[in-house]
Amino acid sequence: MSQSLTLRRPDDWHLHLRDGAMLRAVLPETTRHFARAIIMPNLVPPVVTAADARAYHDRIRAALPEGAAFTPLMTLYLTEETDLEDVAAAKASGLVNAVKLYPAGATTNSASGVRTFEKVRPVLEKMAEISLPLCVHGEVTDAEIDIFDREAVFIDRVLDPIRRATPGLRVVMEHITTSNAVDYARAQDETLGATITTHHLVINRNHILAGGIKPYYYCLPVAKRETHRLALRQAATSAEARFFLGTDSAPHTDANKLLPCGCAGCFTAPNTLSILAQVFEEENALDNLEAFTSLNGPAFYGLPPNEDTLTLTKTGATYPAQIATDDGPVTVFDPGFPLDWAVT
Ligand code: NCD
Ligand code: ZN
Repeated sequence: MSQSLTLRRPDDWHLHLRDGAMLRAVLPETTRHFARAIIMPNLVPPVVTAADARAYHDRIRAALPEGAAFTPLMTLYLTEETDLEDVAAAKASGLVNAVKLYPAGATTNSASGVRTFEKVRPVLEKMAEISLPLCVHGEVTDAEIDIFDREAVFIDRVLDPIRRATPGLRVVMEHITTSNAVDYARAQDETLGATITTHHLVINRNHILAGGIKPYYYCLPVAKRETHRLALRQAATSAEARFFLGTDSAPHTDANKLLPCGCAGCFTAPNTLSILAQVFEEENALDNLEAFTSLNGPAFYGLPPNEDTLTLTKTGATYPAQIATDDGPVTVFDPGFPLDWAVT
């Protein structure tokens, strides 16, 4: 008999669904396995106001595959002009579950992000008061800081000062990529959570750069050296409540990935759960997979875990190399090893 593993249905606490043709193509890849996801607001133009979030929410709902039970958890893109009353109303109406902080220029479509953190202090104070989490893209953008150091420098220069200045603010360190971030997260109280992507548990910077450049492994924050990957694997598989899954599945067309200045992002929605089961099994931690994918995230966000379940069986799994969209093909993240666990 093949081995099987049943989990509460997972949620994705950091997801890019895009819009239009891309949204229609990638949404089923998430709804097949996940019940809820925190939806990133970095559209062009970004999702800034409650009205923007309502309209985007309705477009996502309209694009849902027939019969899919999926709840998009909306976020607002924090700008220096964000209106705190609008944020509070969006939270009160149940529409919005988090606000996203992108340092201006840190990543794809982040030009409207925050340059001067003092300007957003009143909004952050309001968020602390109403218990609305801040999801943070934790990289400094200064050109003189080495790209591999940008997360660690952000923690010291930006994140820790924000948290000290705004006691009680719930913060998610998103897509952490370093042992520095793991250590920082572990030293904080329960107002701090940290998401970890699937791909950062699998690749280090050699995968991107050794033996020829691999654009499909380029994402932000960029994968770091092996010691950091090992720290992330230890954190993700530890069952500690502060660590939970945020895939950061970030689809771009192959044409946009393969440009001389290609887009950052790994598309992991289709095969994430098969990859995670493999990683957790390698770490002798299959019993902790459910905490990472299905329990710790809802607990941080103050939501109940999903009632229904998802079963993985050790029968072998294959996924298409690409999915088709009306904008062109999108390549699925290749973990570089065969996948034993299938979602059934
Ligand atoms: C994201 C995207 O493509 O929107 N890219 C990525 O590499 N993760 C942006 C982001 O979350 O940084
Ligand atoms: Zn992202």
